[in-house]
This record gives sequence, structure tokens and C-alpha cells, in this order.
Amino acid sequence: MGNVGRVKTGIPGFDELIEGGIPQGFNVLITGTPGTGKTIFGMQYLYNGAMRGENGVYITLDAKKSELIDQASMFGWDLVALEKQGKLSIMEVPMDKVEMDLFAMIEEQVQKVKATRLVFDSLINFAINIDQFKVPVSFIISNPEVASVMGNEKTYYTGKSEKRITYLLVNELSKLGTTNIVITAAPEGEKTTLTMDGVSEFACDGVVVMYNTLIGAAHAKTMTVLKMRETHNDPYIHDFELNPKGFKVKPAEVYQ
Ligand SMILES: Nc1ncnc2c1ncn2[C@@H]1O[C@H](COP(=O)(O)OP(=O)(O)OP(=O)(O)O)[C@@H](O)[C@H]1O
Ligand SMILES: [Mg+2]
Repeated sequence: MGNVGRVKTGIPGFDELIEGGIPQGFNVLITGTPGTGKTIFGMQYLYNGAMRGENGVYITLDAKKSELIDQASMFGWDLVALEKQGKLSIMEVPMDKVEMDLFAMIEEQVQKVKATRLVFDSLINFAINIDQFKVPVSFIISNPEVASVMGNEKTYYTGKSEKRITYLLVNELSKLGTTNIVITAAPEGEKTTLTMDGVSEFACDGVVVMYNTLIGAAHAKTMTVLKMRETHNDPYIHDFELNPKGFKVKPAEVYQ
């Protein structure tokens, strides 16, 4: 296990797949088909953290804040109370504004609650709305690899390359010092990539995939840890359920 500090998600059955928790400071991508439970996973991660004294920030570009609160309450997680106690901040990013400095907005939320956990939901909505976001020049200058390709422009705005900006966002999130769950969407059907952007699975330190798998006349929810740097991760596909307490990952059915 080495000296890696690990952050417990507290999600039943999940931490044991990754040697007890997510290595501190990592970006873990949750990708999957619609309605699998990616958002619920993110909320449970923050709720469990807040209950352990590890504060969190939820950045939503997808569901409305009120929808998140309602969904969480079905599992007994009172997000409103946690916000009042200063243990959680849910930021709904307005989609009707332009030239938003999203990165500065995120940093402000992290500082506000002294967060050590963060959820970004989702990269796919970020990519779709990419023209609304402004990328500060420091991102280019502070990243020599990008600077060598792009040059040190004085100002740079998004809307030119979704892949590059997605890469920059993931990079920026890892500078916050928080341990992050980054949500995105996987293409359905014939899959040639794990994500719609095709880059975040390489940029993130860990990748968890969630599927709705057809079994006979019904579909079952399954998941697997595809990648977790600095970790001997479990290789199996696991069924999971959403019960009244939230996510529960079941032991793998391994036939030998
Ligand atoms: N109270 C509940 N009890 C059991 N399962 C639930 C409950 N509420 C929602 N679900 C399940 O969770 C799913 C929604 O979860 P969630 O919003 O986290 O999915 P998602 O992967 O984020 O979806 P999207 O891709 O649309 O953002 C529903 O499709 C349903 O299967
Ligand atoms: Mg969602």
C-alpha cells in the first residue's frame, strides 16, 4: 500500500476494490451510460465525507441544485443541513451566462468550505457549453507542454478544442489539492472510447465505469474499476444496487 494517503468514499463495497480508498489528490473519472447512478455516487461521496469532517464541494452543470437536494433526500442525506453547517457547498453553474471564469468560481467554493473533496458533474455538459467558459491565460503559461504547442498568448478563450480544454480542466482540478470525482458520459452501443470527449480517461488518475447491462428482459447495474494509479485495483465487474441507503457494490461473481 506504500505511503499513499487514501480518502474513503464510504460507499459500501467500493473502497475495498481500491486498497481502502482513493489516493489523496486524485481525479477519479466516473463514466457510464445514462441513469446508471453517477450523480448519486458523487453525492454519497460528499455526504460521507462531510459526516467524517471532510468538507466537500459539488459543482453541477447538469442537474439543478434543487433536484440534487430532492434526490439525496430519498437516501436520507440532508444536503441542506450540511450546507447550513458549512460542511458542503453545492454550486449550480448558470448556463445562461457567458465568459464565465469557471476555474475561479470553483476555487472560491473550495476555499469557502475548506473542502478536501470535490465532485464535478459533468465534463460532458462542460464540453457542450464550452463557448460560455473563459480560460485564464495562466493555464497556458503554467503548463509548459500546452504553452509549447499554443504559444504564450495573452488571452485565450475556449470554443476551439473541446479535448484540449477538457484536459486543461482536469489538470486544473488536480491543482486544488482536493480529491475529486469527475463525472462524464460514455457513448452507448458500439464503444470505441470510454468517454464522449475521448481524453479524460487518460487525463484522470482513476477511471470507474458504470453500465446498464441487459440480462434477459431486464437490465442490471454493473461497474468496474478500470484504472487507479498507485493502486492494485480489483479487476472484476461488479453488480451494484441503489437501495434506500444509496449505493452498494456487490462482490464479484467470479467463475473459475
Ligand atoms: N430512490 C431511489 N431508489 C433506488 N434507485 C433510485 C432512486 N432514485 C434514483 N434511482 C436510480 O438512480 C438512477 C439515477 O441516478 P443518477 O442521477 O445518479 O444517474 P446518472 O448516471 O447521474 O444519470 P445521467 O447520466 O442522466 O446524469 C435512476 O435511473 C434510478 O435507476
Ligand atoms: Mg447525473
